Amino acid sequence: MDSFFITTPIYYVNAKPHLGHAYTTIVADSMNRFHRLLGEDTYFLTGTDEHGDKIVQAAEKNGQTPRQYVDTISKMFSDLWPNLQIENSDFIRTTQERHIKCVQSVLQKVYDKGDIYFGEYGGHYCFGCERFYTEKELVDGKCPQHETKPEYIAEKNYFFKMSKYQDWLIEHINSHPDFIRPERYKNEVLSLLKSGALEDLCISRPKTRLEWGIELPFDSDYVTYVWFDALINYITALEYPDGEKFKKFWPGVNHLVAKDILKPHAVFWPTMLKAAEIEPYQHLNVHGYWLIKDTKMSKSLGNVVEPLEMAQKYGVNAFRYFILREMVFGSDASFSEEALVGRLNADLANDLGNLFSRSLSMTHKYFEGKVPTPGDSGEEDVEIKKLGRESMAGFQQCFLDAKFSRGIESLWNLVRGLNKYIDSTQPWTLYKNGETSRLGTVMYVMLENMRKIAVHLWPVMPEASEKMLEQLGIDFCCEKINLAAEIDIWGLIEPGTELARSSNLFPRVDLSAAEKPEKQKTAKKNKKAAKEESDDGFADFTDFQKIDMRVGTVLSVNKHPDADKLLLVKVDIGEESPRQVVAGLAEFFTPEDLEGRQVVIVANLKPRKLRGEMSQGMILAVRDGDKMQLMTPSSDVSNGCKIS
Ligand code: ME8
Ligand code: MG
Repeated sequence: MDSFFITTPIYYVNAKPHLGHAYTTIVADSMNRFHRLLGEDTYFLTGTDEHGDKIVQAAEKNGQTPRQYVDTISKMFSDLWPNLQIENSDFIRTTQERHIKCVQSVLQKVYDKGDIYFGEYGGHYCFGCERFYTEKELVDGKCPQHETKPEYIAEKNYFFKMSKYQDWLIEHINSHPDFIRPERYKNEVLSLLKSGALEDLCISRPKTRLEWGIELPFDSDYVTYVWFDALINYITALEYPDGEKFKKFWPGVNHLVAKDILKPHAVFWPTMLKAAEIEPYQHLNVHGYWLIKDTKMSKSLGNVVEPLEMAQKYGVNAFRYFILREMVFGSDASFSEEALVGRLNADLANDLGNLFSRSLSMTHKYFEGKVPTPGDSGEEDVEIKKLGRESMAGFQQCFLDAKFSRGIESLWNLVRGLNKYIDSTQPWTLYKNGETSRLGTVMYVMLENMRKIAVHLWPVMPEASEKMLEQLGIDFCCEKINLAAEIDIWGLIEPGTELARSSNLFPRVDLSAAEKPEKQKTAKKNKKAAKEESDDGFADFTDFQKIDMRVGTVLSVNKHPDADKLLLVKVDIGEESPRQVVAGLAEFFTPEDLEGRQVVIVANLKPRKLRGEMSQGMILAVRDGDKMQLMTPSSDVSNGCKIS
């Protein structure tokens, strides 16, 4: 069985997770699910990077010890992922014992081999920044951050002979064209490698300067430089060197990172692997940056997008869809709620949602809610099946090539194509003309293609995909799906399968309502103001108070003269004359069932005509699967009592 190993960067624990971290991790989850559907054995790793100067500083700022601090922030990451329907196989932390051991064993191996040496390093050291500056980086001889004159320090440190592997790396990249992808990043790395001799990498920090790190196994006065430590997480998790997981998953490894950390992954890491005599990874997949309306996302600008907030507001699945569809993998993309709402309404509510609700309701109208048996295929059916094959093949190839946006676009050719197919085959006309066999074929072609779409969307929108399948009467089971075969296979949805009555997968969202939280953010400092504006899916108490609900007794019930599903119910709610309510209850109750019973009605609903009959309120009922129950007081009360 083929194996697939996907990693995200391990995130620094010096800040809370934001949109950028969520994007990378959602892409990883999506790739992982895609390969699961292909029947591969997969392993999906994410985690946190917890050593180094930065973390110590952040902890100090918070008045915590590094240990307390890393525990708190790391948990924010690990707690977030399930809320975004991310199913990682493992969560690694560089402060874990398994990792410390692995880093030390790799260091020892490379040291014993002679690829690590002790040497002197001189440079302009800024104590404020805890780092060395080169002459070029200084401004008027001063640290650009602190505007103080750095001190020249000559420090003894350990170095990794990175330069030794430069030629090998160039050759490896040239002979493996998709080692780094997309191509622009490969070219960037190649030009860096060809521009001059690589320097050796300083891989230690003296404990006198930094204690929060992994001790060098061959010199207890030093800790490991954070990047040399961090990169090794990818093999720690597989229990390198002897673990079964390592044997199984390393050959298929795909790393996923943004462009900010291209150099460590494209230069440090492959040369480290080479020195440790480990096979290079298969692919480094590099994406661009999320910008907020063309500017960088940053704490100081106050424009940091919190993924959970977005997911709670618009739904996790819509959020995942949007970021995967919006960002062309490799390029920067701009995030805005307007764009999210635009896609939610156009692609999800309109294209996909309508496809489902139209097809389900037609199947109910024409075939009692059961998948019909198809007859012979006509020209239009052959065409749409062909479009389906192309669109799914495109989706799959793009997902293999890390082109997620294009893959989804390809699948939408089918979604839109099916909506057009309904318009042109006109099932309602076939029904009117009694062309039942042709109607059966058309509906079958629709439903089978919808099944395929739902299956393909599992990597993108796991919950929505499972819901779509459920509405098609299918229990989702990852192991039973053979995604590659789905392109050509036909006829898996079985005639006779019962479908859900209706589908409301992606309700439309109103943009003006969507804009509120941004205002809310600025108002956050002022808690009172924020409270007044809050629009977080809650109804205000005053909203609730507007609704007038009363208990009444059903006096008489008649069938609606023009609509099978409706009943005309006369209810006494203690007023001069009884109310008439038009209720969609005919499928569930006979007039005898209702007469004499107490019910709850919404009494101040604006009166309106339903199929020609005036309705003055609404009867409250609750549906449980096929059954409908009336809301009613637990024992009789006077007519007209108010619900509160
Ligand atoms: O670099 N747009 O951690 P980090 C898209 N610990 N992705 C973004 C982003 C943005 N605006 N901002 C961050 C580190 N990311 C090291 C990694 S790996 C052995 C060690 C994502 O917390 C993106 O994946 O700074 C980027 O590469 C990563 O967060 C950087 O995370
Ligand atoms: Mg960073």
